[in-house]
Amino acid sequence: MFRNSVYAFATILLFLASCNTSENKSPQKNSPMKNLFHDPHSFAIPSEAVITHLSWDAVVDFENKSIEGIARYTIANKTGTDRIRFDTRDLIIQKVTIGKEEKETSFEMGDEQEFLGQALTVSIAPKTEFVNIYYKSKPAAAAVQWLSPQQTADKSHPYLFTQSQAILARTWIPIQDSPGIRFSYDARVKVPAGMLSLMSASNPREKNETGVYRYEMKQPIPAYLMALVIGDVVFKPIDERTGVYAEKSRIDAARWEFEDMDEMLRAAEELYGPYRWDRYDVIVLPPSFPFGGMENPRLTFATPTILAGDRSLTSLIAHEMAHSWSGNLVTNATWNDFWLNEGFTTYFEKRIMEKVYGADYAKMLWALSYQDLQSDLKDLKEDGMWNDTKLKLNLKGRNPDDGMTNIAYDKGSLFLLHIERITGRERFDRFLKNYFSDNAFKSMTTEAFLEYLNAHLINGDSVLAAQINAEEWIYEPGLPEDHPVVKTDRFEKVEESIKAWLGGTPAQDLPASKWTTHEWLHFLRKMPANLSKEQMNELDQAFHFSESGNSEILAEWFQLAIAHRYEAAYPRLKAFLIQVGRRKFLKPLYEALAKTPEGLKMAREIYKEARPNYHSVSYETIDEILDWKPSESPN
Ligand code: BES
Ligand code: ZN
Repeated sequence: MFRNSVYAFATILLFLASCNTSENKSPQKNSPMKNLFHDPHSFAIPSEAVITHLSWDAVVDFENKSIEGIARYTIANKTGTDRIRFDTRDLIIQKVTIGKEEKETSFEMGDEQEFLGQALTVSIAPKTEFVNIYYKSKPAAAAVQWLSPQQTADKSHPYLFTQSQAILARTWIPIQDSPGIRFSYDARVKVPAGMLSLMSASNPREKNETGVYRYEMKQPIPAYLMALVIGDVVFKPIDERTGVYAEKSRIDAARWEFEDMDEMLRAAEELYGPYRWDRYDVIVLPPSFPFGGMENPRLTFATPTILAGDRSLTSLIAHEMAHSWSGNLVTNATWNDFWLNEGFTTYFEKRIMEKVYGADYAKMLWALSYQDLQSDLKDLKEDGMWNDTKLKLNLKGRNPDDGMTNIAYDKGSLFLLHIERITGRERFDRFLKNYFSDNAFKSMTTEAFLEYLNAHLINGDSVLAAQINAEEWIYEPGLPEDHPVVKTDRFEKVEESIKAWLGGTPAQDLPASKWTTHEWLHFLRKMPANLSKEQMNELDQAFHFSESGNSEILAEWFQLAIAHRYEAAYPRLKAFLIQVGRRKFLKPLYEALAKTPEGLKMAREIYKEARPNYHSVSYETIDEILDWKPSESPN
């Protein structure tokens, strides 16, 4: 009876809390509900029964593209319930046992729901502490990309990597796949001989003959930070606590490119407190990795497209490193609060870059981010997705991957810059440092953040509250009028050069010899929309854009080439689209091509060849742009 009423009360609270998030309003001040939230993208019911530790035992079968494993969970049965619920998608559940003695128990698979998968409900007893799930993943597991030797740099061994964020961990482990649920883990993984296997945990440095590797992650993490990568990779240290993994042919380039990583990590600690995850390593993946980087704890996953050869794209490392605080330590409670992860991280990233490379450098990053924000606002308005320009999202019933746009990054970080400018740096830094330490290893809703902001920064100062204007920044679409704008002389000079060139100065006479990647990006972004073939050709002859080894410059140049039908760049464009699977580059390029009938035709021809190289995250997006039916390609 008592248990039932506790349960009923908790359910009511949970219901109220979920009404609150779905209406997208902030709760009343001093609400006792601030720590109760409902995650619309998980079947788990953590208020009843929740996982606290995972012991994962797995064998990876490259031939059948399957991971066969046992997920042994320690659980907390909070209400004495007779069931615990997990998330699964495309998994084959073989059997489930409970307790140390592994007594077989009954389980039920719910109906399949688009992108959410199926609930797995396991029968337990009020005192059950251990639940063991025997299972197998399918070749279609959306998190996992199985690469042939041909798709790697060294072409000798196959390769595998996972990408769990946002809700794909459930495609390779039955798990409570909500960012608001944390657990520690250990693992034992068996892989084919000749390969090294790494996780988001304590990692080996070299291959062993048995192909069996063990891991430990003592700090509790949410499921989206579960990660596995297997390949013929080697390790090189940078300092005692940082290092790089990559395939042999890339390791020296990677080690050189990321040499400042230890300095970045010290800069981050000076800003916002100690690094809490022991080691910080980066692995450079094959080019099909769908993101620039992924902040898997202790082991950032990175695209090889940031190996520019001049260290000019390493703000991405600062970004993933910054997630060790914003995201991995203080974690968005649901994907509706995504801006708490990415906005804080984007702000933090720029602070690290400023500390290591100076204010001029950081200003250019801010200016480019502002340009991205303006173009995202424009696109979302045109696409009728204006509500997605709010920081606090409402993704219920949607695939979170569709609503998690760059707004969280660029508007989120601009909001923090806005607060910094009002309070002054020193005061804001003190606030942020405390925010990370007070909330370490906890999840954060937007509403709880607002309460924290009120209690620890605003502190009853109504003038300050009005200046910060948090409610408008967070709950309204678009950009408040008094937002900060970052100006940089370096970009103004670039604009003068563009004017001079359009006024007749030959391209090769422009004072561009010392420009950095960011100035080149600005140069390309500021080009008028109506250049002639001769002008495009002149630029290419003078600056060799089509041959650039810098992926960011190349992608920006390809945009211009498509818009102006500059066909001389098309062979390189095609090669790029086939080789690189990073969605940030693919999406705008395919979109630009799809604007004209000939472009669309070419895009679809290229895509036929390119699609087998892409991870599901990327091809799901591009299928839609090109109206591609999966039946059009064998998979
Ligand atoms: N955590 C993100 C990647 C992500 C976001 C994966 C949403 C799945 C869903 C990562 O930290 C990130 O933001 N990567 C950026 C790089 C950054 C410098 C903007 C990327 O991949 O481009
Ligand atoms: Zn990020």
